[in-house]
Amino acid sequence: MKILVLGSGGREHTFAWKIAQSPLCTSLFVAPGNSGTADIAQNLDIKVTDFQAIKNAVLTHEIDMVVVGPEDPLVQGVHDFFLNDEALKHVSIIGPQKAAAELEGSKEFAKAFMSRHNIPTAAYQSFDASSLMEGYSFLESLNPPYVLKADGLAAGKGVLIINDLDEAKKELKSMLVDAKFGNASSKVVIEEFLDGIELSCFVLTDGKHYKILPNAKDYKRIGEGDTGLNTGGMGAVSPVPFATEEFLNKIEEQIVKPTINGLQKDNLPYKGFVFIGLIKVGDDPKVIEYNVRMGDPETEVVLPRLKTDLVAIFKSISEERLDGVQLDVDDRAATTVVLVSGGYPESYEKGKEISGLDKVKDSIVFHAGAIPKNGKIETSGGRVMAVTSYGNTHSEALKKSYQNIQHIHFDKMNYRKDIGFDL
Ligand code: AMP
Ligand code: GLY
Repeated sequence: MKILVLGSGGREHTFAWKIAQSPLCTSLFVAPGNSGTADIAQNLDIKVTDFQAIKNAVLTHEIDMVVVGPEDPLVQGVHDFFLNDEALKHVSIIGPQKAAAELEGSKEFAKAFMSRHNIPTAAYQSFDASSLMEGYSFLESLNPPYVLKADGLAAGKGVLIINDLDEAKKELKSMLVDAKFGNASSKVVIEEFLDGIELSCFVLTDGKHYKILPNAKDYKRIGEGDTGLNTGGMGAVSPVPFATEEFLNKIEEQIVKPTINGLQKDNLPYKGFVFIGLIKVGDDPKVIEYNVRMGDPETEVVLPRLKTDLVAIFKSISEERLDGVQLDVDDRAATTVVLVSGGYPESYEKGKEISGLDKVKDSIVFHAGAIPKNGKIETSGGRVMAVTSYGNTHSEALKKSYQNIQHIHFDKMNYRKDIGFDL
């Protein structure tokens, strides 16, 4: 089977790494890929939202399956594009169709979906510029902190959590009236603040059946002790120690089952990953958000723990027989620590040479913002690499990641030294 992975991050290197291990995969392509995928697959210089260029590549290389990494192409309808094209409709796509991708593409859509299917989440109301005054009144009726969410995709920056009522009103106006997040904030969801500890649950579905992957927790803030600006993720661990069997059962019964049933009832075709961002409030799980893809860097700890052939799983998803698949999971813990460019998540320099990768032993380095250049590897993004290790405990795994990081160097390299500090 010839397979194309769309994307260029650590998540996509991990997909490629896992797919390349499958005897079912005969050729592997990644578009656009990075220095890590270049070693195990053929990189294609194509943007993930350039559907015409993707079509040309799929026809040229006779690709049988496309695995979509990031949300943008899904929300823009890449799956539908394939289904509506005579020359492409035989190709299997891993990733939901546009209508279902709205679970990530629109917070309001996701909230309405949860409310329709009785899925526990924060109470909310949504507003647009014409209902700004009602928005102010709703804020006045809530206790701080106030949670304001741009409805559309805002590159992970569209959620504001504000303590002061007047500031919350000012921000609401700036989002709705002054287009703070462009079109993405033409609608804003205001919701109840939930106080608790977060974790991520990953579900595979063929639209009818589902399988739950190992859970994970990511560390989003740039600073140690979970302080400072939000990032795409500075590290992750799997499994999540506080997710007891009883709590996981609640997640499955109260959230996963109604989500998959809801997709069917609402006629939302879904073949791919559902990433459910959860918060544990008291003893109960509540949904913070849906994503229609895998998490990054969570993928870098979830897929290394999956022992089952990923291509066989994908094949069963496209044939709607996921119920016949058994997932085997490695009992060991996996942890990852992300190396970032100095300055990230604000402005940072690129083009720094990365050295020492050959000295890494007993960890897996997944490349993200890194590209091959004249026989060397250079930084090309904010999150540069994720160093993943296994251990009998989280601390054993983390120790290996941190030891190996000592060998890796690039100018202004930064990373969090406290991943897993709260476990
Ligand atoms: P989202 O993009 O919806 O995942 O939100 C980004 C982050 O904001 C989440 O990971 C949470 O840390 C936080 N957050 C979102 N919604 C809430 C809420 N209702 N209560 C508390 N924290 C929230
Ligand atoms: N690590 C969070 C995300 O992928 O959205």
